[in-house]
Amino acid sequence: MKRSTLISILIILSSFVFSQQQYFSPEKLVETGVYYYPEAWNPNQWDRDLKKMADMGFEFTHFAEFAWAQLEPKEGKYNFEWLDKAIELAAKHNLKVILCTPTATPPVWLVRKYPEILVETANGRLAQHGTREHYSWSSKKYQDLTSKIVTAMAKRYGNDKRIWGWQIDNEPSHYGTYDYSAAAQSRFRSWLRDKYRNIRNLNEAWGTSFWSGIYSSFNEIEIPNVSRMHSGVASPTSVLDFKRFSADECASFVSMQYKILKSKIAKTQFVTTNFMHAHTDVDPWRNKDLDFPCYTMYPVAGYTNGLGDQGFRLGDPWRISFANDLFRPINGVTGVMELQPGQVNWGSYNPQPYPGAVRAWLWNAFAGDLKFICSYRFRQPLSGGEQFHYGMVGTDGQTVSSGGEQYMQFMKEIKELRKQYKKNQKMPKELSKRYSALFYNVENTWQTTIQPQTSLWNQSGHITKYYNILKNLGCPVDIIGEDKDLSDYAVVVVPAYQLVDKKVVDKWKKYAERGGNLILTCRTGLMDRDGHFPEAPWADAITKLIDAKITMNDMLGNDKTAKVIFNGTTYQWNTWADIMQPTDDTESWATYSDQFYAGKPAVTHCKQGKGTVTYIGVDTRDGKMEKEVIKKLFNKENITTDEQPEGVMVNWRDGFWVAVNYSSYKVFINIPARSQIIFGSKELEPAGVVVWK
Ligand code: GAL
Repeated sequence: MKRSTLISILIILSSFVFSQQQYFSPEKLVETGVYYYPEAWNPNQWDRDLKKMADMGFEFTHFAEFAWAQLEPKEGKYNFEWLDKAIELAAKHNLKVILCTPTATPPVWLVRKYPEILVETANGRLAQHGTREHYSWSSKKYQDLTSKIVTAMAKRYGNDKRIWGWQIDNEPSHYGTYDYSAAAQSRFRSWLRDKYRNIRNLNEAWGTSFWSGIYSSFNEIEIPNVSRMHSGVASPTSVLDFKRFSADECASFVSMQYKILKSKIAKTQFVTTNFMHAHTDVDPWRNKDLDFPCYTMYPVAGYTNGLGDQGFRLGDPWRISFANDLFRPINGVTGVMELQPGQVNWGSYNPQPYPGAVRAWLWNAFAGDLKFICSYRFRQPLSGGEQFHYGMVGTDGQTVSSGGEQYMQFMKEIKELRKQYKKNQKMPKELSKRYSALFYNVENTWQTTIQPQTSLWNQSGHITKYYNILKNLGCPVDIIGEDKDLSDYAVVVVPAYQLVDKKVVDKWKKYAERGGNLILTCRTGLMDRDGHFPEAPWADAITKLIDAKITMNDMLGNDKTAKVIFNGTTYQWNTWADIMQPTDDTESWATYSDQFYAGKPAVTHCKQGKGTVTYIGVDTRDGKMEKEVIKKLFNKENITTDEQPEGVMVNWRDGFWVAVNYSSYKVFINIPARSQIIFGSKELEPAGVVVWK
C-alpha cells in the first residue's frame, strides 16, 4: 500500500475514533440518566428532585422535549429563564443535560393560527390540539416555525458546556397514522416528479395499464388511500411509494433540525433522535446523517406473552438485543433514550414487571455496547395523559419505586465494573468465528404488508425468528443494511428479502464466493425495487445463487398444518412453503412429507465458490426446524456454537460477558471454569443476571 494511502486511512480512522470518543468516554462504559419535566413540577421542588436523582446515582437528565408551550408562550416571544434555572440546578448536582427540541408538541396558539400544519388522517379528519406528533412533516409553515424555535434554542444552549447533547423531536412518527393533508399531497407529487421525471415512467412503475389506472399528468395523482378503495388496490407500487415518501418526509424533517443544530452548537454536543425500536413506518437508516440514532424501549406493556407463564412480566427475550443490534451498526454507536421504569399506562393491559426485570433490561441494554441508558421517567405524573405510569420515585415525589431501586443497583454495579475496565478488549475468537449478520431493509416489510399473500405472514416475526435462532446459538449479530461490508461475518442471513436488484444479489454472491455462508429464506428475490416480477422464470434473481428453482409456493389456513421432514424429524408449517427443484450439485436438506408435492425439497444447500448458500423455503410454526438447519450448517462449516437455554440472552462487550434470563424458569449457564464471575451466579432465576470476565 502507498504511504500516502496509508496515512489517509489512518487519518480517517483516527477522526472516526475521535468523533465517537468526544461524546462518550470508553472507560465509563455506559452512562445512566433519567427524564425530568421541570415545567410540570413546582419550581420549589426542582432542587430537591435533581439532588435525589444525583444521589440515586444518575449521571445525566433529559429536558424539554414537550415544552414548546412553555418555551415560546406566544409566537416569537421566548421564555428560557425557567430552563436556564433547571439546567443550573442539574449542573449543581453534577448532572449533564440532554436537551430536546420541542417540536413533537406544537402549542395551541400555533395550531389555532396555522391549522394547515395539522396531519389529516385517511378518513379526512384533521388531527386536533391535545395530543402529539399531530403536525405534518410536509408543512412548510411548520418547518419554518420549527426552524425558529430550534435556532433560538441552539443559540442559547449550543455552546453551553452543561449540555451533553440534543434529541430532535420525540419518537418521530405519527404513531401509525399516515398524513393525507394538502401539504403532504403536494409534496408527494413533487417527490414523484423527482423520482420518475415523466409520467410515462410512473405509469410503467405503478402498473397502471390495469383497471384503467393510467395518469396523464402528475397533477392528477392523489395519495393512494386504501380505505377509499373498496375493491382492492390497483397499484401496490403506488402504496409502496407513498410509504417511501412518508418515511423520507419524516427523515427530512429530522435532518432539517439536525442541520440547524449542527451549524450552531459546539462539536462536543451530540445530536440524535429516539426512534421507536419496532415501529416500521419510519426508518432510522434514512437518518444516517445524525451523529447516531437511538431508540426507546418498553418490553412489558401487554403485547407479549414472552416465555412461560411469567413471560408477560419479562418481555420477549430477543427484544432489547434486537434493538441494540439494529441501531448500533447504523453509525457504530447508540444508546437507549427511554427504558421502561416499571408499570406503564398505555398498554392493552399494564402488568407489573417481574421482580428484577428492570435490572435485567438494564444489563441487556449495557451488553449491546450501548453508551447511555436513560430511564423514562423520574417522577410518576399526578395529572395529564400518563397517570398510572411509574417513575423512579412514586406519587409523593420521594419514595423510590421498585424500578428506581433496580436502577440504583445497576448504577452501583456499573461503577464497580468501571474499575475493572481494560481498554481495547478484542472480541474473543470463539465469538468472532460465529459473528453473524442479518440483512434488513424496511421496504421489504412495507411490501409484504401491502401484499401479504397470506394473512398469516408476519414479516417482523419472520425476521426476529431468525435473529432469535442466531442469538440462541451464541452468535454476536449485526443487523445491517445494503451499504455494509460483509467480509467480517461468518454467516449472513437474508430473511424474506422480497425486493432486490442486481447490485444487492451480486453482493451476496461475492460474499458466498469468497468463503461466506449465506442463508436466504422464502420470499427472497421475488421482485425488483418497483415491486414487479421480472419477465423471467420465478425468483430468477436468485436461482443461480441458490442453485435451485422454486417451482411454486403454497400456504395454508390458520387451522391447518402440513409436514416437512428434516433429519428424520417431522415439523409443521402453514405460513409459507417454497417447493424447490435443485440442480444435481445441490443438496436437499429437508422435504415436504404430505400434500400433493410430498417428497419435494423445502431446504437446499449448495457450494458457491469458497462458500455456501442455504435456502430455507419453508416457514415453520415455531422455527424449530430452521434452528436445526442452521445448526447443521454451523457443524458442517466447523463454526462452533454455544447453545443457551431458551430465553437466555448472552452478549459480550469490553471484556465482560452478560447473561440475562427472560424465561419463567430457573436455568443454569455454562460459564468456563477459568472465568471470574463479577455479579450473580451460574444459576439464573427468571430475570436473573450474571456478569463474568
Ligand atoms: C414513549 C414516549 C414518551 C412517553 C412514554 C411512556 O413511547 O416517547 O414520551 O409517552 O412512551 O411510556
